[in-house]
Amino acid sequence: MVPDPVRPSLLFVCLGNICRSPLAEAAFRLAAEEAGLEAYCDSAGTAAYHAGSGPDPRSIAVAALHGIDISGFVARQADRSDFENFTHILALDHENLRNLQAIAPGESEARVCLLMDMVPGREGAAVADPYYGGEENFADTWEDVSMAARAIVAQLMDRAD
Ligand code: 4NP
Repeated sequence: MVPDPVRPSLLFVCLGNICRSPLAEAAFRLAAEEAGLEAYCDSAGTAAYHAGSGPDPRSIAVAALHGIDISGFVARQADRSDFENFTHILALDHENLRNLQAIAPGESEARVCLLMDMVPGREGAAVADPYYGGEENFADTWEDVSMAARAIVAQLMDRAD
C-alpha cells in the first residue's frame, strides 16, 4: 500500500489482534462513515499468536450489537512496513506501544501513540485487556474504543477544514 498524503491511514494495534484492536477498527469505521470522512484503516497485533485467526467471538458479538460485522476480519502481526504505510499507529496499551517503538524504523513519520491519547482528558490511559474477562469487559472495551474513534474523527475533520 502506498500512503496517500491527503487521506489519513490509521492502524490500531493490540497484542493478539483478536479482541481490542478489531473493535477499535470497527468503531473507527462506523464513526468515519457517520461523519463522511474518507480514511483507510486496519488493525494488527504485536504478537503473532493469533495471526490468521478471526476475532474473538466476544468481540464479534459486541460489534454486532453496535451494527457492524467483524466476523471476516483476519488477525495479523504488525511489522516495520506499517510505519511507512500508516499516518497514525495507535496502541491500545503501554506494552504494545513499547513493542511498536522497538520495531519502528528511525525514519518513520507515522504518529505513534496510545489510542486514548487522542481523547481529551484520557491521555496516557490504556484500554484494558478483556481477554481473560467476561462480556462486561468487552462492553467496556467498546465504550473506550468508540470514544476514541469519535475523538479521532473529530480531529481529522478539523484538520481537513
Ligand atoms: P487483544 O487480546 O490483544 O486485545 O487481542 C488478547 C488476545 C490474546 C491474548 C492476549 C490478549 N493471548 O494471550 O493469547
